[in-house]
Amino acid sequence: MSEKDFSGQVAMVTGAGSGLGQSAAVLLAQRGARVLIADIDDAGGQATVALCQTAGGEALFIHTDVTIEADVAAAVARAISQWGSLDLAINNAGTTGPTKPTADYTLEEWNKVVALNLNSVFLGLKYQIPPMVAQGKGAIVNTSSGAGLMGFAGLPAYVSTKHAVLGLTKAAALEYIKSGVRVNAVCPGSTRTPMLEGWMGGNPAIEAAMANSAPIGRLAEPNEIAEAMVWLLSDAASFMVGHALAVDGGAVIM
Ligand SMILES: NC(=O)c1ccc[n+]([C@@H]2O[C@H](COP(=O)([O-])OP(=O)(O)OC[C@H]3O[C@@H](n4cnc5c(N)ncnc54)[C@H](O)[C@@H]3O)[C@@H](O)[C@H]2O)c1
Repeated sequence: MSEKDFSGQVAMVTGAGSGLGQSAAVLLAQRGARVLIADIDDAGGQATVALCQTAGGEALFIHTDVTIEADVAAAVARAISQWGSLDLAINNAGTTGPTKPTADYTLEEWNKVVALNLNSVFLGLKYQIPPMVAQGKGAIVNTSSGAGLMGFAGLPAYVSTKHAVLGLTKAAALEYIKSGVRVNAVCPGSTRTPMLEGWMGGNPAIEAAMANSAPIGRLAEPNEIAEAMVWLLSDAASFMVGHALAVDGGAVIM
């Protein structure tokens, strides 16, 4: 890919105040896109804007709770009013939810994970797709997980919602490909982000187990996943449609 593959394009990245979303936003900005940073964390979002600017790019933060329809609609509208179009999107905000078996989940805990991991992707697609269809071109990547491809005990809501993100990706991909809009998903393996660090709780035994859960024998760095997200958005991936791209150090083939 050339350094400025996304020149003239406008991107929206949710959950871009940290981790994978932040890395992807910075890569997009470095490669010429103007990037709308949508996150509930104002400090994290502003930090990402600064990183994009340091990388020589242009970015703007808008406080967005991706579980709230009006917030998602406003974020899309802001990208278009600021820069004139929306060409690229990464629906990435998410959480693991509590770690415990299915029968121990409360309905409230379950619904919170569904809202953040699945409804948010639906809302993103609902508002991002129409302007892309209107201009006859667009590309969207949804963040699923290795937990979208395999089962993991103790994370029932996470596993369910990440599988569902792949179903939604495939349905939307089929619906809009003739309109020039490609929808794909990434399925990251265990990646060293604040979310995973929090989940591992600083326990070296848990970190070693996570590292060894993939044949590669280590955690991913956020940039290794972000590169795949950004490639799926690029014209280099023009024949990729409805795909669930595992970027996981070989975990899914074990
Ligand atoms: N880190 C991993 O090992 C891993 C593996 C597979 C999939 N993923 C997925 O990657 C995505 C990003 O995870 P991460 O590891 O970078 O986590 P992270 O916690 O570092 O980043 C998540 C971001 O989402 C934001 N966010 C949370 N709730 C929000 C809301 N309601 N509205 C808007 N933004 C909100 C947070 O403020 C944060 O900036 C998630 O969907 C996660 O499930 C992560």
